[in-house]
Amino acid sequence: MKEIKQVAVIGAGIMGHGIAQIFAAAGFSVRLYDIHEHMLQKAKEAIEASLSLFVTHGMISAEQKEQALGNIRLTISLAEAVADADFITEAIPEKVELKWEIYRQIEELAREDTVVASNTSTIPITQLARYAKYPERMIITHYFNPAYLVPLVEVVKHEKTATSVVELTLETMKRIGKVPVLLQKEIAGFIANRLQAAVVREAFHLLEEGVAGAAQIDAAMKAGPGFRWAFIGPFETLDFGGLDTWQSAMNNVAPELCNATQAPAMINQLVERGELGVKTGSGIYAHTPETVAAAIELRDQRFLSLLHSKQNETAGH
Ligand SMILES: NC(=O)c1ccc[n+]([C@@H]2O[C@H](COP(=O)([O-])OP(=O)(O)OC[C@H]3O[C@@H](n4cnc5c(N)ncnc54)[C@H](O)[C@@H]3O)[C@@H](O)[C@H]2O)c1
Repeated sequence: MKEIKQVAVIGAGIMGHGIAQIFAAAGFSVRLYDIHEHMLQKAKEAIEASLSLFVTHGMISAEQKEQALGNIRLTISLAEAVADADFITEAIPEKVELKWEIYRQIEELAREDTVVASNTSTIPITQLARYAKYPERMIITHYFNPAYLVPLVEVVKHEKTATSVVELTLETMKRIGKVPVLLQKEIAGFIANRLQAAVVREAFHLLEEGVAGAAQIDAAMKAGPGFRWAFIGPFETLDFGGLDTWQSAMNNVAPELCNATQAPAMINQLVERGELGVKTGSGIYAHTPETVAAAIELRDQRFLSLLHSKQNETAGH
């Protein structure tokens, strides 16, 4: 198997900076590319801040933080980013034409055997690879925000993806400390976002039916299924709960579940009013810049503690 040493991350936004950070922290030489210089500077600050959080939590040393930062080179030159790259991760906006254009440029600038992985959440890999000169090297690695914390990476191949590329991608994801899950076929929303969407649809149904308020529904998830799901998946839950019990539960509850095929009406109303959540100051809840900053800090600290437990789980403790 080819050894990956140098990686390129294309797009330094919400996802790109987190992906660059994990590769750098795992010892890879990283080129982080963006068309906007200010996005690169913002990415650098965000990476420094989140590595500091890892240091504060004792998950890496101050020296490892400096090494990780030293492994990242920022660039606004695509040629510099990809010329010597063994593995490219594309994390530019979710517009297929933009992605096709960047793949076309990569074909001119990168080696033929370089793996090209997209972080797309919704575009099928067959569509991404439609005009590819080397479709065998194209694959999806779908990370979750914040990418430097959430372990899952969904890996999606298409018919023409070379087996060696799939194996190399899975191996590389493990080397950067991620938990890769390979899909056997393409499907919209992959696995995790479909599971999440099913829960979100039902949560809005409960809210719209007046069963409970948003805070109560959030509390029920966090203190109930959410508490278990970090360590016990749905199938494990059923085996431990008893399949006969779950047979009755599903027969009783399934006919009652929401089966809407569109976004919940409440989301549509909020979006129409420009209430988009934290980015506009109100959504399901009300937010201020102070409450948002505090919530993100607390969230990341808690995610770090959880990550610590999950790393122990992987190590068999
Ligand atoms: N945000 C999420 O929670 C999330 C989760 C998983 C996957 N994704 C996917 O990751 C990808 C990136 O999403 P994001 O949320 O990081 O977006 P973003 O808007 O935060 O960042 C995109 C970055 O790409 C840069 N850019 C735009 N055109 C470019 C080009 N031609 N070349 C290089 N850089 C370019 C922008 O300047 C920006 O910095 C999308 O495909 C998205 O669907 C997002």
